Amino acid sequence: MVKKKMAKKVLLFCDPGIDDSLAIMYALMDPELELVGVVTSYGNVTKATATANAAYLLRLGGKPNVPIIPGAVQPVTEEEVTFYPEIHGEEGIGPIHPPSDLQYQLYPFDMIRKIVEFYKEELNIVDTGRSTTLAMAFILYKEQMQMVGAFYLMGGAFFVPGNVTPLAEANFYGDPTSSNYLLKNAHNLTITPLNVTNYAYLTPDVVESLSESTANPYAFMIKPIFNYYYKAYKTFVPGIIGAPIHDLVTLMVVKNENIVDYIYYDANVVEEIEARGLSYIDLRPTGKPGETRIAIKLHHEAFINEFQKVMMG
Ligand code: BDR
Ligand code: CA
Repeated sequence: MVKKKMAKKVLLFCDPGIDDSLAIMYALMDPELELVGVVTSYGNVTKATATANAAYLLRLGGKPNVPIIPGAVQPVTEEEVTFYPEIHGEEGIGPIHPPSDLQYQLYPFDMIRKIVEFYKEELNIVDTGRSTTLAMAFILYKEQMQMVGAFYLMGGAFFVPGNVTPLAEANFYGDPTSSNYLLKNAHNLTITPLNVTNYAYLTPDVVESLSESTANPYAFMIKPIFNYYYKAYKTFVPGIIGAPIHDLVTLMVVKNENIVDYIYYDANVVEEIEARGLSYIDLRPTGKPGETRIAIKLHHEAFINEFQKVMMG
């Protein structure tokens, strides 16, 4: 491993998935971000599918040597996992199929420890999937995790409806025990819940212009995957004028924290079955502000400008 200066170092935990995929594309195209590893897990699709998708996107982006580290196949508390082909497609990136003969190298889980020890406080860990694998890394490498500069999670919904249940957002619902563990143990933590990511929508006209960009190696797939995802969103959010690219916001705030406004509270996730995955903070007059930075409002124009700037190369 050779350290490059300047760009923000990101170790991404993810489950690509269409919005995770767009986040990976953005990270690879942005000279101000350096993806130093991708950890793939179950979530939108199976771990194996998420891993193949990450490998394909890295290859297309000219970065096949970024280490891919496979993570968890299920949450800590149960074996049954629900996947979401109706939103992300059977293979996770809508109608796009990675080549069946795609070759890629996988790294053992211990590579996470090596990456953390190498980059230390320069490292930003971003988790846009279920929380299981990052919680596992914390349990295994507790001492090393204290060296990490900052953590960013896509998860939760505060005072707004959930997306997989009336109360819960998908990542925190998927493994609430691990999400709670991260909320209690990760320092310098920012979360981007549905409060902001629901507003991080791309519209067909923005996608149309991106798909015409010659400087973007993903231009050929952006429109078909967006159309697939947008079609799904239109069925459960009638009248929606674009599709929210949740995970993109979580990566974007690593280098561009001002695209959202924040409140600071200690956040919690309910694990009991009736309200599983519900995220909440204590807003009573007796409740005190806490340490976790919770994104609460998105500046949509800034979000779109930033995405277009990077993706047009
Ligand atoms: C989150 O759940 C996943 O399905 C998406 O990829 C995103 O990370 C949104 O609730
Ligand atoms: Ca995701």
